[in-house]
Amino acid sequence: MRMYDIIEKKRDNKELTTEEIEYFVREYSLSNIEDYQMSALLMAIYLNKMNARELTDLTFAMAKSSNMINLDSIKEEGKFIVDKHSTGGVGDKVTLIVLPIVASLGAKVCKMSGRGLGFTGGTADKLEAIKGYDVNIDIQRAKEQVNDIGVALISQSSDIAIADKKLYALRDVTATVESIDLISASVMSKKIASGADKILLDVTCGSGAFMKDIASARRLAQTMVNIGKIANIETKAIITSMDEPLGRSVGNAVEIKEVISFLLSDETTLNSKSLKGLKDVVFECAAWMLKLANVGEDIEENKVKIMEEITSKRAYNKFIELIKAQGGHIHSVYMDLLGMSIDMPVLNDQVKYLKDIRAEKSGHIVSIDSKKIGEALVSLGGGRKTKQDSIDHAVGFEFINKVGSKVNESDTILKVFYNDKEKFDEAFEYIKDAIVIENLEDTLGEALSNKPHILDII
Ligand code: URA
Repeated sequence: MRMYDIIEKKRDNKELTTEEIEYFVREYSLSNIEDYQMSALLMAIYLNKMNARELTDLTFAMAKSSNMINLDSIKEEGKFIVDKHSTGGVGDKVTLIVLPIVASLGAKVCKMSGRGLGFTGGTADKLEAIKGYDVNIDIQRAKEQVNDIGVALISQSSDIAIADKKLYALRDVTATVESIDLISASVMSKKIASGADKILLDVTCGSGAFMKDIASARRLAQTMVNIGKIANIETKAIITSMDEPLGRSVGNAVEIKEVISFLLSDETTLNSKSLKGLKDVVFECAAWMLKLANVGEDIEENKVKIMEEITSKRAYNKFIELIKAQGGHIHSVYMDLLGMSIDMPVLNDQVKYLKDIRAEKSGHIVSIDSKKIGEALVSLGGGRKTKQDSIDHAVGFEFINKVGSKVNESDTILKVFYNDKEKFDEAFEYIKDAIVIENLEDTLGEALSNKPHILDII
């Protein structure tokens, strides 16, 4: 078999055989195919797409390209192991909140998370903003930890779906990321290889996501759900809005702070307007994970249990248990609001500078382009420009006002935490174009604030 013939066939929009697909996945994983030939094939797939049979073959070939994890040793009678995956976003700290909640309610979770890609953040990077937290424990130790405390959150191991690791890095530099076929195969190959019984997908949609509109997000969600069916892994997809950054913070340490504050919130705060978007996504994902795990059948009842788990601080205590189990440093902090001392993670959050970005005019904020905010974070050093870059965990943004807010000229919209003035100037080029203010009727501003975050469930 020759790679040249496979490229030519896909270029001419012909169907590839199972043998051809298995050949290029295997040989590329073994580094027997050059990047220039694989790039040409990826672009041909991007442009001419794959049919359902080709896509299934591609996904399974990628899943089997290295170790498949077996999670039998953490299974419990009558319950299922559920994995979660988000297609990526800006300010997306949902996994960090959802995992302790569902583990605290009795669903066991052994999750591997990725690092930041392009302008989107990664859970593994955020966890490393906690001093001492080890994302690199091996899968055997992670499974033991799940049997002890119900949860482990580790970095995507390099020997899982090795084909995806190599192909993703190539797609990232050949403008072939935003393909429904290639994203589906990438996500589902990793999930199939990770050994869970069921999968919950958070398919993000909007300016800060790979899918910019709801029709494409639905197609991506349905494609992945169909692959799950073929793999005999029940898969549910929640389409969520990523038009503006999720929640109030974007960065690594700042997002961990937001997770802490979310998990320490009382019911009034959780129901407040300022937490609405993040709360809706967290509650929907956690409720579906509990249902898939066979821990709670009814989604609305699950949401009531989730509220109780947070307000009782049991979910927060599970978060602290997880951090301690993976070596994270903890200190005790007296909190006036709670009238007691509580354990807190110690963060790499030291910055030299803080700057307020202020409204240039009065009006309503009509949009905050998440992609530009994600790019601004990369410019500050909070994300990677190349795979080898190290990350400054302390830099980031805290939004004081978000889409729909009414602001007066010179009101603070966001705070920037940074360590390098030149990097700030680079980041500012993105920030200044990211926020649009217009004169609107108050009712329209209100409608923008209340835009739903759960767009569909497939
Ligand atoms: N997330 C993934 O894991 N893969 C993609 O291709 C895109 C988002």
